[in-house]
Formats: sequence, structure tokens, C-alpha cells
Amino acid sequence: MFTAVIAKEASFLFEQDLGIDLGTATTLVFARGRGVVCSEPSVIALEQPSGRILAVGEAAKRMIGRTPASIVAATPLRGGVIADFDTAKLMLQHFIRKNRLRQFLGRTRVVVGVPSSVTEVERRAVVDAALQAGCKEAYLIEEPLAAGIGAGLPVDQPIGSMVVDIGGGTTDIAILSLGGIVTSLSIRVAGNAMDEAIQVYLRKQHNILVGERTAEAIKIAIGSALPGENLSTSVAGLDMSTRLPRCLELTSEEIARAIAEPVSQITSAARTVIERCPPELLCDIYDQGVTLTGGGSLLRNMATLLQRETGLPSRVADNPVECVAAGTGRALDQMKIMQHLVKRGTRR
Ligand SMILES: Nc1ncnc2c1ncn2[C@@H]1O[C@H](COP(=O)(O)OP(=O)(O)OP(=O)(O)O)[C@@H](O)[C@H]1O
Ligand SMILES: [Mg+2]
Repeated sequence: MFTAVIAKEASFLFEQDLGIDLGTATTLVFARGRGVVCSEPSVIALEQPSGRILAVGEAAKRMIGRTPASIVAATPLRGGVIADFDTAKLMLQHFIRKNRLRQFLGRTRVVVGVPSSVTEVERRAVVDAALQAGCKEAYLIEEPLAAGIGAGLPVDQPIGSMVVDIGGGTTDIAILSLGGIVTSLSIRVAGNAMDEAIQVYLRKQHNILVGERTAEAIKIAIGSALPGENLSTSVAGLDMSTRLPRCLELTSEEIARAIAEPVSQITSAARTVIERCPPELLCDIYDQGVTLTGGGSLLRNMATLLQRETGLPSRVADNPVECVAAGTGRALDQMKIMQHLVKRGTRR
């Protein structure tokens, strides 16, 4: 019955569907026929105590660490999960209202990618937020499934596909088949954990303090999952003895060592999922390979290391940062997958 409803909807030419990847680091909005229409940091700035929204996205991110007491710049998603539900809801509504085409008011369907770990109450709240933002229907999809669809894997077929989505807060690893998740594992170790490891390394080895954003910039500039890259960068930090700024030259060898621990936690989680995978599906994955998605998969040599550690061919998807958003946006087009989507609510 559900499929029939969707078939009717799909024939409705003026429908507008939005897919939303509510990520720890970045929120992406994908619109049918328009692609990714918005990619902004998952940050919202609120005036206190009124709760009025002052800024969302890039403008709000610039306020972090620089706000007076009357303003709070909040990151409602932390560690890959929704940590502050009320502000997450405000942020979601802002992104929906901003990206919905005015002429489709009241006819928008939205699919939101959610971590598999969110509770039933939280699922309901995401749907309510979308409906209150004026959407006609709201659906939820688990992020690894969306990542598989977005990466163009044959997730609706009786063929095993494996996705390793390395985000900011979490790494989600899943084996997919017939439009569903066969087995999965989510660990709270991803890009942010690598940044923290760089901060700790610089403090211990060089007696220098750097902020999160500097650590992330170092990782992107010269970070690697394996030694052997010949890159270097200079970084300015606060010398802990003199309490004065000091410049330091860093090499990719050093940074590879600094992030080795979180990187190996990711590869061992992948091995755990492979151990749990039914043999038939494992043969498919051996043929097809493992697909890496998420911003963290852009770390140099990540796919090579994963291949070495798992013995399975591994490659980074095209546009890895956009895979979950594209998958949420395309899920409504795929009938078989549609049956695995949870339809959560319709506005009357
Ligand atoms: N070129 C790069 N090299 C290494 N890491 C990168 C690169 N580009 C982005 N990243 C990292 O990717 C992470 C963000 O990825 P992504 O946007 O997929 O996360 P998210 O979806 O917001 O988080 P989550 O899925 O955990 O909720 C950040 O930690 C960022 O530093
Ligand atoms: Mg993500």
C-alpha cells in the first residue's frame, strides 16, 4: 500500500523533494534536480535568553569562541549524535525553509539521514521539526544506507556492498543488501578524533598548544594514514613554557604518527564488521570492493591502509562528502529502498 502511495506521488510533476544530511561537522541539503544546494557548518547562534536565531551555518561558526554572554554559538550535533535536540530542531527548520522553493510551499517531501543510534523520541522530534517547517511528508533513513545510495552502490540488489563513512564525529561501517543494513557498527572515532590526537601530540612532543581548527587544518594540509608522504607545513601555536606564540615546522611523517591510533581504530572496526558478514555477501564485497565516504575518507592513503588491513579492494567514492546527502535526496526515487525508509509523518 505504501509503495502505491509513493508511485502516485512520483507522478506528481511539481513535487519537490529535499534530502538532508544532518552531520556533526556539516549539514548538506540535496534538492531533486538541483543537486547539493547548501553545505554549511552545523552551528547555530542564539540570543539569550530570548532564544532568537542570530545566525546559522558559516556565520554562526565564525562566532564560536568569540561570543559575549548574551549569545550562544551552539553545535547541536556532537559525536555523531544529536546532543541538543531543541537547537538541532531550530537548525533543521532553518535549512528546510531556506532551501525549499517558494512555489512548492506545502508540497515538499523531506528525507533526513539519521545516525542508527538515535532514539525513538529523537526520531519523532526530527520528523516533527520537518513538518513544522512546512514539509508535507517527512521520512528518515539510516545514514550508511544513504551513503551507499549516494555512492551509486547497488544497495537495492541482492548483492553485498560495504560502506565505511568517516565523518567528523562518527565512523559508520555497514554491509548493505536488498535495500537494508545487514550488519553495521558505529564508533565515535572519526575526523574530530584525529584533530584531537594532533593537539595532544603537539602538546606532548613540542610543548605547543593549538586550537581545534588549526589541528584540522594541519590534518588536511599534510595528514596521512600511512608514512611515506613528503609534505610539511609550518604552524603557529602557544608555547606552554613561555606563554608566547611560537612557529613550528611539521612533517607528514610526524602527523601520520600522531593520528595512527584513531586511524587504526577505524580499520579495526572495519575488520570487526567483515568478521560478522555472511560469507556470500563477503564474496560480493571482494568483487566490488569497499567504498569509503565522508570527509574523513579524504585523508591521504586511507583507502590504501584499509585495503592493506582488510585484504579487500577499497576506494574512495566520487564526492565522498556529498554521498549521504545525495543518497537521502535520491532515496525517494528508488521504490525498493523506499520500502525500507520509515515514513514518519504527514502534515494535514
Ligand atoms: N581533505 C581532508 N583530509 C582529511 N580529513 C578531511 C578532509 N576534508 C574534510 N575532512 C574531515 O572530514 C570530517 C567531516 O566529514 P563529514 O562532513 O563527512 O562529517 P559529518 O557528516 O558532518 O559528521 P558525522 O557523519 O560524524 O555526523 C572533518 O573531521 C574534516 O576535518
Ligand atoms: Mg556524516
